Amino acid sequence: MATTMEQAATDAKAVEYPTVGGGLPVIGHLWQLMYAYPELLVRGEKECGPLFWAIYGPGRPNLICMMPEAVDALESTSISNRCLSEQMGDLFNGTIGVMDGPEHMRVRAIMTKPFTPSGITAADFGKISRPLLEQMVDRWIKDGHAKVYADCRDVALKVMFRMIGVKPDVFDIWRNKYIEYVKLLYGIPWDFPGSPKTVGLRAKDWIGVRLQKIIDTLAADENDNSFTARIARGADERGRRMSREEVLDNLRGLLFAGHDTSSGVFGWMVFYLAKYPQWWDKLVEEVAGFDEPPMTPKDMANFPVTEALFREVIRLNPPATMAMRTIESPIEVNGYPLPVGATINVPLIHHLRSPAKYDDPLSFRPERWLEEDERRTSADVRMPFGFGPHFCVGYHMAWFEIIQFTVILGKALSAAGLRPHLVKNDLPKPVYFPLMHPKNDPVRFAP
Ligand code: HEM
Repeated sequence: MATTMEQAATDAKAVEYPTVGGGLPVIGHLWQLMYAYPELLVRGEKECGPLFWAIYGPGRPNLICMMPEAVDALESTSISNRCLSEQMGDLFNGTIGVMDGPEHMRVRAIMTKPFTPSGITAADFGKISRPLLEQMVDRWIKDGHAKVYADCRDVALKVMFRMIGVKPDVFDIWRNKYIEYVKLLYGIPWDFPGSPKTVGLRAKDWIGVRLQKIIDTLAADENDNSFTARIARGADERGRRMSREEVLDNLRGLLFAGHDTSSGVFGWMVFYLAKYPQWWDKLVEEVAGFDEPPMTPKDMANFPVTEALFREVIRLNPPATMAMRTIESPIEVNGYPLPVGATINVPLIHHLRSPAKYDDPLSFRPERWLEEDERRTSADVRMPFGFGPHFCVGYHMAWFEIIQFTVILGKALSAAGLRPHLVKNDLPKPVYFPLMHPKNDPVRFAP
């Protein structure tokens, strides 16, 4: 394994492009990746041009592709998701996230259906998420303050648990096991008693045994419309199904894909509404017109201001700040060849803050989503959820739960005569990696 930046870059045949400065021995640019990613991107482009290497930890060189055209490369058959399997295989192996080609298309076709707006409606997802979100907001009202991001992580995980069929009375033990399981995300290879890998793999098995029982029970009932049953019984257009292992791996994978993503946006939403009281007022005005929060994706059409808030919060704070891929066969972007075997990194966050697409791109201006803007394609609007064959399966679900949460927040707090206030004077500092989220600053709920 490479132990220095120089070795790591050489291993990936990096000679053609420069490495951005500021990396440390062994860990390279890992610190910047976590805490100063946009700054690293800007500095790299200034120092090196549109293609440069950054080192994301020991032996992990990533070729950062700053050109907007690199986004189109995500559609190419010359690239694969092999890097995810190589770097975080213990967490992702067996899931659609690491599949490519025909295998990916088959599993993806089955996984997609339950997550369409009609699938979400059929599974009554609104009734799963609503009580959990209301309980959290009611607690905030009672306490008058909260560490919102910690609470949002917890509630988003509970929503995923309920979605896959876990009963509320065992949430606590499942949460503990989930926390152990996601230690596998860091891809630390050493396996010894107490190591993240050992603990993570044990928790993965624990979850697997119990989840398999849930799958078997729910799928046995032909009339069960839950996500789990529909994925387990599902077939693609040629009638092909997922194997037992594929169903298990992919349902377990949803815990991470659907929880650590949405929770960051829930958290940021509260902080932005606290920082921008004029947008809190607009939200309250909009939600006052409705007795109920949206219960199906169709109901979301009633909440354009809430949707504008969602689009702007996620534009500035995309949980997935980048897409990573492996170059499998020769491909050029804008005349620049990408080295075969390299891991490339397409920084979604950089494109979401592009002055070519957004006026005053670093400012929080939800009104931009209430106006037509011909510079933006639908792919730009959906960019926080990726591109190409691996575009987020949970797009409609995430959009729905964030709108439902924001409406519940607006209605419940305003009914109690309260609004959110920042305790520190500004938005919390972001953590960008592995998924972008706010630091756990407190928020006060007061008149
Ligand atoms: C705000 C919330 C979310 C964001 C920002 C988000 C973002 C993304 C992004 C950027 C990708 C593509 C990654 C890549 O190209 O490498 C992705 C993939 C995926 N997402 Fe989401 N996601 C969110 C919520 C969800 C939810 C709620 C679910 C399901 C319950 C979900 C399930 C998935 C799955 C299964 C994939 C892999 C798709 C594939 O590889 O074909 N996500 N997500």
